Amino acid sequence: MKSMYEIEKLQLSDPVKNGKVEDIVKRLAFTDAIVERIKQVFISEMELALNMEPSSLQMENTYIPELPDGTENGTFLAMDLGGTNLRVLMMTMKRGEVSNEIVQHYPLPEELRIGCGDKLFDHLAKCIDDFAKEKQLKDDCKYSLGFTFSFPMRQSGLDSGVLVTWTKSFNCPSVVGQDAVLLLRKSLAKYKRTNIEVVAILNDTTGTLMHGALLDKNTRIGIVLGTGSNGCYMERANRVKHWEKQRHGEKHVVVDVEWGAFGDNGVLDFMSTEFDRTVDEGSLLKNSFTFEKYIGGKYLGELCRCILQKLHENDLFLEALSKEQYPKPWTFDSDNVSVIEYGTLNDSWDSLEEIIRTKFATARYSNDDLKIVRYVCGLISKRAAQLVAINTSVLLNRMGEEEGDNITVAIDGSVYKHHPRLRKWIIDYTALWTNDKKCKFMLAEDGSGKGAAIVAAIADKLRLRECS
Ligand code: GLC
Repeated sequence: MKSMYEIEKLQLSDPVKNGKVEDIVKRLAFTDAIVERIKQVFISEMELALNMEPSSLQMENTYIPELPDGTENGTFLAMDLGGTNLRVLMMTMKRGEVSNEIVQHYPLPEELRIGCGDKLFDHLAKCIDDFAKEKQLKDDCKYSLGFTFSFPMRQSGLDSGVLVTWTKSFNCPSVVGQDAVLLLRKSLAKYKRTNIEVVAILNDTTGTLMHGALLDKNTRIGIVLGTGSNGCYMERANRVKHWEKQRHGEKHVVVDVEWGAFGDNGVLDFMSTEFDRTVDEGSLLKNSFTFEKYIGGKYLGELCRCILQKLHENDLFLEALSKEQYPKPWTFDSDNVSVIEYGTLNDSWDSLEEIIRTKFATARYSNDDLKIVRYVCGLISKRAAQLVAINTSVLLNRMGEEEGDNITVAIDGSVYKHHPRLRKWIIDYTALWTNDKKCKFMLAEDGSGKGAAIVAAIADKLRLRECS
């Protein structure tokens, strides 16, 4: 492994303490053998899922057989529900180019994210209705809407998605097993919104891929690295077993990998640490979305807090702080990890000291304490980047057989955008593990919203073709 990939060594003033800290956290650093094993497990879980055999990957056919090709025309709507955002968007396209776009953000309070499903969907419909009134949508025009619903679904067509399980910070139990399109249509009917038709459901990675494809025609993979994490890619249609609708000679189809759930069946237990298990124990949805909990923005901060807690319990970190004073679970946001990593990159300790003073509420810290926090943030960040790069390189190697080199990966999400070192690690490791296959990573911002409008346009084209 080249040295440019290494994180800074831990160099505490006391070598004995140095050894003890390294020993406790050492399983967070991957050996080449572990990387290889994760790759092989991912490849085999993908094969199983595509063949509809038991696998932790909840891979799903999205029923989107094509990317935008420059023939998209019209005004389309999108509703984006998934992470921290809820937005409605209207996008006008002329010959595949976006000529106008209006986005409106709406609040989504916790009581709607965790509670009664009907209330959640009525709220979504109300936001669409408010948007339609405010933007004066014409009553005598039909608007097609793409619904980004960023959760694992079973799809039986482009406009049907049955929720398998909630993830991230959502949990409205009555929706599990229900078709989210039907629920949204039902709620829209309450507002008499007959001029808006939900024509497609997709997740944010698919939206990112679609938006990416509009910006760069070589885009074949979409990745989200935000609150949660996932990827999708263009698969050969004949490799996809789950296909409920009549086929129309499709050559390709977008497949949602749902890699957040990778490892839920125990296949990644060989790499998980006691800290990962603690994060899982305290999470909203235990024993699920194992992989996402290693890398998602919802979890990285808590992971960091748990590791430092173990060091604290062993009198190796912030020794002056009592057990009762140590920060409580879920009080250390992932943004702190990004801020600390900025400090590491720029060789400045100021923001880290500020974080210790505010988040750990103590002024009694040593230089060694600061070095430990920096070291831990480096370890978990590098591990997250490697995990994303492992999956990406497997997808690229798989597609390379057919697509050759020059594949563009469209990527979006708060962790990817805000973490200062993750991006470079993901790019470098992906290059390393694809034998320097030429691939480009491209930020496709707000793909989850824009992509939904593009998919609505594609859905309309597909319907027209089916009718003719
Ligand atoms: C979760 C969802 C997945 C989504 C990802 C990123 O993993 O299950 O559908 O793509 O979060 O938001």
